[in-house]
Amino acid sequence: MTVLVTGGCGLLGEAFVRALAERGDDVVAVDVDDDAGTELASDFEDGRVTYRHCDVTRPEALDEVLDGAKSRYGAVDAVVHSAYPRTSTWGAPFEELSAEEVAENLRLQLGGAIMVSQRAVAHFREQGGGHLVHIGSIQGLAAPKFRHYEGTDMTSPLEYTAIKTGLLGVVRYLAKYLSGTGIRVNCISPGGIKDGQPEAFLERYREDCTSKGMLDPEDVTGALLFLLSGRSAHVNGQNLVVDDGWSL
Ligand SMILES: NC(=O)c1ccc[n+]([C@@H]2O[C@H](COP(=O)([O-])OP(=O)(O)OC[C@H]3O[C@@H](n4cnc5c(N)ncnc54)[C@H](O)[C@@H]3O)[C@@H](O)[C@H]2O)c1
Repeated sequence: MTVLVTGGCGLLGEAFVRALAERGDDVVAVDVDDDAGTELASDFEDGRVTYRHCDVTRPEALDEVLDGAKSRYGAVDAVVHSAYPRTSTWGAPFEELSAEEVAENLRLQLGGAIMVSQRAVAHFREQGGGHLVHIGSIQGLAAPKFRHYEGTDMTSPLEYTAIKTGLLGVVRYLAKYLSGTGIRVNCISPGGIKDGQPEAFLERYREDCTSKGMLDPEDVTGALLFLLSGRSAHVNGQNLVVDDGWSL
């Protein structure tokens, strides 16, 4: 299988790339972080992972990468959208948001997900099928547990909840819209991923989960490998939650 992973150099994206390549898939990691991308690809001497620079919020740039991958591999069987573009002001308190910042983050993230879907679907239609996987979040399932953030400078922006909640609608819509095309669209909603968060936060977060609490990126990869396999052939329009029970 050939898989294109957007945001392939990110916390989750890199874990996805590595897991897919280790399974034997050909992976095109797409990102705007050229240093990280070059380094990631160089870890795979067998050429299983290639890196392509692409700002995925520009549909024509994604088309070029899809066309290039198609020429090289014959087809791109799946697109995993794990890029996470955001403005420099991302995370500003609700009370301080400007209309422009809200609009820009909605454009980059929710609009970006819609446009990545449009370009991936156009590509899949030409080849008679494919699989699109979006990355949601537990913040699309429930309100943040604000207690967890007390005493830290961490936050979960309101726009994030709006974007990730909206993304679930995009996934359901597309799965149904594409009935009979051989194209599946699903979502994975991970819980929080460990990334140097303060110990007090990790502890409070863990108390609201069932065992580990915050996850490592690798904990989410099994869900992707399942979705990008014949074993999930009839899983369509779904949201696979991997959150150690945070949302229960
Ligand atoms: N980290 C978490 O705790 C967590 C939890 C749940 C869901 N998620 C979701 O997982 C996805 C990935 O998050 P992450 O934590 O890996 O983020 P990250 O910031 O670690 O990685 C995102 C990657 O996207 C790349 N990128 C940014 N703008 C881009 C653009 N315009 N074009 C191409 N690439 C671009 C960045 O260079 C980076 O490598 C996001 O949708 C995020 O909301 C993350």
